Order: sequence, then C-alpha cells, then structure tokens
Amino acid sequence: MCGILGLNSHHDVAEHLIEGLKRLEYRGYDSAGIATVTDEGLQRRRASGKISNLEAVLRDRPCPGSLGIGHTRWATHGAPTETNAHPHLSGRVALVHNGIIENYRELKTELESQGRVFESETDTEVIAHLIDMALDAGHSPAEAFHQALGRLTGAFGLAVIFAEDRLLMGARQGSPLVVGLGENEMVLGSDAIAVAPFTRRVMYLEDGDWCVLSQSDAHIFDAQGVTVQRPVKTVAASAALAEKGNYRHFMQKEIHEQPEAISRTLSAYVNAARGDIAVPEALDFNAVSRIQIIACGTAYYAGAVARDLFARYAHLPVDIEVASEFRYRTPPMTPGTLSMAISQSGETADTLAALKWCKTQGLQTAALVNVHESSMAREADIMLPTHAGPEIGVASTKAFTAQLSALSALVVAAGRARGVLSEAQTQEAIQHLLEVPRLCVEAIECETQTEAIAHQLLDAQSVLYIGRGAMASLAYEGALKLKEISYIHAEGYAAGELKHGPIALVDEHTPIVALAPSDEVFEKTFSNIQEVAARSGKIIMISDAEGLKRAEGVITAGLEIPASDPLITPLVATPSIQMLAYHTARLKGADVDQPRNLAKSVTVE
Ligand code: F6R
Repeated sequence: MCGILGLNSHHDVAEHLIEGLKRLEYRGYDSAGIATVTDEGLQRRRASGKISNLEAVLRDRPCPGSLGIGHTRWATHGAPTETNAHPHLSGRVALVHNGIIENYRELKTELESQGRVFESETDTEVIAHLIDMALDAGHSPAEAFHQALGRLTGAFGLAVIFAEDRLLMGARQGSPLVVGLGENEMVLGSDAIAVAPFTRRVMYLEDGDWCVLSQSDAHIFDAQGVTVQRPVKTVAASAALAEKGNYRHFMQKEIHEQPEAISRTLSAYVNAARGDIAVPEALDFNAVSRIQIIACGTAYYAGAVARDLFARYAHLPVDIEVASEFRYRTPPMTPGTLSMAISQSGETADTLAALKWCKTQGLQTAALVNVHESSMAREADIMLPTHAGPEIGVASTKAFTAQLSALSALVVAAGRARGVLSEAQTQEAIQHLLEVPRLCVEAIECETQTEAIAHQLLDAQSVLYIGRGAMASLAYEGALKLKEISYIHAEGYAAGELKHGPIALVDEHTPIVALAPSDEVFEKTFSNIQEVAARSGKIIMISDAEGLKRAEGVITAGLEIPASDPLITPLVATPSIQMLAYHTARLKGADVDQPRNLAKSVTVE
C-alpha cells in the first residue's frame, strides 16, 4: 500500500526522498510525488506511474529544500492520475497519507460550504484543508494538526510539512508510522525499511500517537495531546537487505533465501541439541480445544496447510477463514478456542480487525507474524515469530515457507503436549523438521528444469492446480502465485473435486499442475491425473522420483522434489510452485516484483 517518507534535514532532501521511495516501491503503487519547503514556500512535483516518471519531472524542475515529504500512492479514492497523487497542498501545509478517511464526504461538504476548493478526487485532501483552516483560525501548527486529527474517522498514517514553521509532523491511526532519529536529521517512514538508509534508531508510534519533528528533536503525543515516550529500538533492516544482489528480481532472491529463512524460523521453536520444541509459555495446547485461524491470501493458504497437519499430528481441530469474511459473519466462538492470525506484515487491515474482534470475545489470541513490531504482534496475547527477514517482492515466497515452518513446529509441539505423538515420534518429527532447509536447497536446485517447463505455460489462457490434503492447499497457493505475477488465469482444486465441475475446462490447451508426492493418497490423485490425461490435458506433475516414475507415459512433464515425510512435504514442494510461477511471469516479461494492481501490505479493508 502507500509508502510514506518525510525528512527534516540540514541538506536538500529531494534526492534522498526519491531513493527512499524506491525502497518503498515493493509495497505496490501507481503514482508518486514529493513536496519540499523553500524560501518561496511549498514546492511539489508529482507523476502518475513509476518513480522514474517522477525523476524525469524532477530533472526538468528540481525541488530544492531541506524539509520534505514523499509518497507512493496505491489508488483507493480516485484514479492514479497526477492530480490525485500525493502530496496534497492547502495554504501552508503539504500532506501525504496512507489509509482511508471514512468520513471524508461529510468533511468535504462542510469544507466546501466554507469556501474551500478541492482539486483532487481523493479522501486525503480534506485533511490538508482541515489543518490549514485551523492555522487560519490562529492555532499553532501542533494545535492545528491535533485538532484536525480529532475530526478524522478511519485508518491513517500521515506525514505533513508546515512551510512557515519548518516542521514535519506525523500521525498514526491503524496504519504504521516509524520515527527515525538521525544525526541532525529526523525521519518519518511508513516502515523501517524506508527509514533504514538514514538511521537505525527508531521509535514506533502507537495507534493514536502523533509527533512533531524539527531538524534535531522528536516529540511524541498521544491522542489526548499528552507527551509520551516510546522506546528507541535499533532496526535490523540494514540498507543491504533491500538490494537484489545477483538476482534478476527480489522474488527470485527471496525464493533462494528460503532455506535460510526456514532455518532461522525453525530455530526460534526447535532446540536441536536438546531435541525440544519450545512454544511461548502462555500457549498451552492442552487447554486449547480448537484453533481458529484468520488470514488473507498466501497467509491463509499457510493456515490451510496447517489445518491438515494439526488434525493429523495433534488431533486438534482447526477452522480457517479469510479474515475479510470472518468478521462479518459474527461466528459463534466456543471457550477453549485459540484464535490465530497469520500475517507476514502484521498490518493487513482485515486480519487485524478480525484479531481485535476475537479479543473482544474473550478468546486467547496469537499472531504469527514476520514483522515483530507490527500492530498484530502488539495486539495479540501471544506473538509467534517467523524470521523470513524483510520480504520485498510483492508475491509472498519466503514469508510463506517461514509461516509453514513455524506452524509445522507448533503442530509437533501440540502433538506432544496432547499426547498424540509419543516421545519417539516427537524426536522423529523434529528430525524431519531439521531436514527441511537441506531438502529445500535440493528442490531449488531444479530451477533450470522449472524454467524449461515454464515455457509450456506461456501461451495458456488458464491453468489448473490440483492436489489432495495439505497438497490441495498448496495447489491454491500455486494458482495464486501464477495468476498474481503472470496474469494467467489459474485456479487450485482439491483433485477429487475436478470431476464435479472443473474438468469441463480440460482440453489440450489447459495445462494442469498436479502436486502428487508418493504418499498414501498418491493412487487417488493419480486416478484424477489419468482422468485429465484421458481428456488430452497436459499434465505437469510435481513429485518425488518414485511418484514421477509411476506416472511415466501419462504426464507431459515432471518436476522432481526430494522425497520427504508428509509433515514437511508441503514445505519441500513449495519452491517448485514458486519457481514455476516466477519463470512463467519472467518469460512473459511481466513486472514480477510489482505486479499490476497489487500492494504488499493491504492496510485498507
Ligand atoms: C500473495 C500475497 C498476499 C498476502 C496477503 C496477506 O503472494 O502476498 O496474498 O499473503 O495480502 O498479507 P499479510 O501476510 O501481510 O497479512
């Protein structure tokens, strides 16, 4: 979603704002802009499309000034045009915004009746006018900002510059904002990655907080306007983490980083030396009668894989629902339910709202998150970390396998705690978990083969992914990965469902990706594969050597994964579906890291 950067510095900031905005490109955007303060007043440059368009504007019309804000906009209200791009100006203030102002229509009508003229279709512009009106009424910048904040309903992260007083201000309500404490320079950013090049010392604003930043000082206030202190933390996101290195795309780099990300995540739960699995003390699987997982997109599919694993290895029922639906269904909740949000960013609006709702129902809540300072991490009773590191590619890869790793470790912990797994079975399961990084390295080594097979998907109008059990959930994830980055229509199905409708789509032009490791349901899945083959469907089968051998003569192409225990097969098979999607999209020339219309962290409902 929208990216925010603000700098109150001792040198010209335009170039730094542009560099910082480039680091925020991964969040997804469709226009960009900056504003600065000079002796002549506010300066603004904006452009629709990529940041390179904004750079071209700046080459013709540079933007001096040592106080400035920058923004990448993911359109919600109004098309991604230059006029709707942020910053928005009113009198002496310029402002950028992430989120949605829900009462902007009422505010706009009120402001128009007082003679204010709007130039954009956005919900954001009302905030600039509210602040400017309060300045007109004689309030100080801080009073004007605080007063305007009190009029807003909705979610927002804001950065505002005040031309006359040379101040940078920010506010957080549901949409994260980080204050960076630099050397003779204060920074505001929508995430730590944006702030990292300037300083590693940061303070995270809490919901309701707002801040006033001069060149040398940062003051934070709560919603009531009372000064508050927030802890200063050192961010781990070094500047180098946001580089592609020798890879063509961040997505490719992140696929290759998975063995490490998995290993880091597993070590947060598994003590290999002691043969132990540790979960936070507050998480007592014996007291849990059911888990309710809430998540969106890829994180949802990680939960769906875990549902099968919890049932099989811990006899623990798991319900899972997409967060955007869950909350409006007012689902009946039973005591003993652990509600678990799964989210890479920890900021996804629907998941966060569902988590909050579960809390109001008196349920114990857990958040499985990659961003450990995120809203969900702070909201939940229990934080379950993943250690994927910053994920820059919009399509989730290493965050997904990190989620699956943590979930698989929790499954084993639950199985042991509930007496479903004996000590010997627990030790065996731990050994399987510890094999995952090595097996993923082996799976990733098949990249060249995957690239060759990707050619077979290039001209497809539609691709079906099938699997059974946990592999069905992985089929959904495989289809999501392909459609989001290559724009080829793809759907995942439980293999047994094919003949209840989707098989009507099968002909010689519809490739079918079958996830069929040689497990206990192999024969069943293979029957479904044969049904497809009988209708001239082209089958790309992802399986181990034994499975591929058994399918010889029936399938069109095979992608080998190492043989593994069913506990870890979903993890071992994941890189293959990711690489298939990646190379298909790349060969089609798609913008792999920033697919059209998509945002990284979806902070609006
Ligand atoms: C797809 C993808 C999305 C996210 C979803 C949830 O590749 O990345 O489907 O998984 O938007 O995001 P988080 O995990 O941040 O809550």
